Amino acid sequence: MSNWKNEQEAREQILSMVEDFYHDFREKKPYQDGDRITYAARVFDEKEMCSLVDSALDFWLTTGRFAKEFETEFAKWLGVKFAHLVNSGSSANLIAFSVLTAPELGDRRIKRGDEVITVAAGFPTTVTPVLQYGAVPVFVDVTIPQYNIDVTKLEDALSDKTKAVMIAHTLGNPFDLSAVKAFCDKHGLWLVEDNCDALGSTYELNGKKYLTGTVGDIGTSSFYPPHHMTMGEGGAVYTNDPLLHRLILSYRDWGRDCICPSGQDNFCGHRYDGQYGELPKGYDHKYVYSHFGYNLKVTDMQAAIGVEQLKKFPSFVERRKHNWKRLREALSDVQDKLILPVPAEHADPSWFGFIMTLSDELDREKVVRYIEDHGVQTRMLFSGNLTKHPCFDDIRSNESAYRVVGSLDNTDRIMEHSFWVGVYPGMTDEMIDRMAKVIKEAVSML
Ligand SMILES: Cc1ncc(COP(=O)(O)O)c(C=O)c1O
Repeated sequence: MSNWKNEQEAREQILSMVEDFYHDFREKKPYQDGDRITYAARVFDEKEMCSLVDSALDFWLTTGRFAKEFETEFAKWLGVKFAHLVNSGSSANLIAFSVLTAPELGDRRIKRGDEVITVAAGFPTTVTPVLQYGAVPVFVDVTIPQYNIDVTKLEDALSDKTKAVMIAHTLGNPFDLSAVKAFCDKHGLWLVEDNCDALGSTYELNGKKYLTGTVGDIGTSSFYPPHHMTMGEGGAVYTNDPLLHRLILSYRDWGRDCICPSGQDNFCGHRYDGQYGELPKGYDHKYVYSHFGYNLKVTDMQAAIGVEQLKKFPSFVERRKHNWKRLREALSDVQDKLILPVPAEHADPSWFGFIMTLSDELDREKVVRYIEDHGVQTRMLFSGNLTKHPCFDDIRSNESAYRVVGSLDNTDRIMEHSFWVGVYPGMTDEMIDRMAKVIKEAVSML
């Protein structure tokens, strides 16, 4: 038996030991010249570890008090009415799309065969839910050096089946929200902002500054470790629309009608007096399903990490901006070899990465190999051109599965000539300077 007087004292002692454990075994050693520079890494301290263990000691396991706290603080920070945690950014996109198929949305509901305008130069799971449902993605090219949708092609992409635009803010750089929002408003389309790579980016619209993800009807985030903040695995879906909020809860939580939090019964006081579908009157509301939903909830352990990450988040954003700017300046004298990224007009990006496109005479494979061999990790712009991937083999000749509007020349150019490196908040000036040196060597010597 232990000598603890009560649970509170036991928790305090355990957490104090966790703090010591962090300092002895998990605290990151300062960067030394020659260490490998990864494109991303978790930035955390004893606070995240203690919060995680605190939730483990609760042993609540599923969504609970930490998730509630995170959702409340996150919604406040974003300035939106509703924010809901899910178990990944991909799940957030799946929910964001799925709710737009709900019968409650009447004529605006997305049905099978309806079209969603998007891009092929990005991450697959911005588009996957559209195809999985049997709706039709319509791919539009992007611009370089913004790496976002070419808004001059939007009207060409429109058809009488278009119901939504669903796109990401590439590597933190906001897409032209002013043009895309105006297009959506003009044609009565939904706008889903995949904000997984842009948390903290701002955009000025009609004289007011907005965080990306909060301008469209729904925004999504990812909390996978490389992202702007982490829970290990995790994501969020946010909106200001009360109906979409209810639908998000339903699709996330098995498709159920009831909104009782996990572990609570009869929250609304009407558990046994409703009439739903063709069920007998008074059928237990907790087991009434108004949608074909999923279970995409997070555990409280994930949320407990997020609660502490959120407190650090503003400093993360500042450091990302600083790192990006320093790298941009350091590479300014090799612009004849590389196209450097530029922030979108009216935007202040919270950069996820630093993307470059090589001039045609340079061989990307050789450049990237040189950079990697000299200790700097690189990444491609995710899928490059999504339509070229094996997952499209099966539908490539099926004209009704997807549409391409005009050419995807810039998308292909990105697939062949672009790469990016990180600017994560754990990077020091010394690391940025070394990355710049290695990149310059690679493009000048090869
Ligand atoms: C733009 C974008 N959307 C969605 C996702 C998916 O997020 P997750 O890995 O949490 O599923 C990612 C992943 O990195 C992404 O970059």
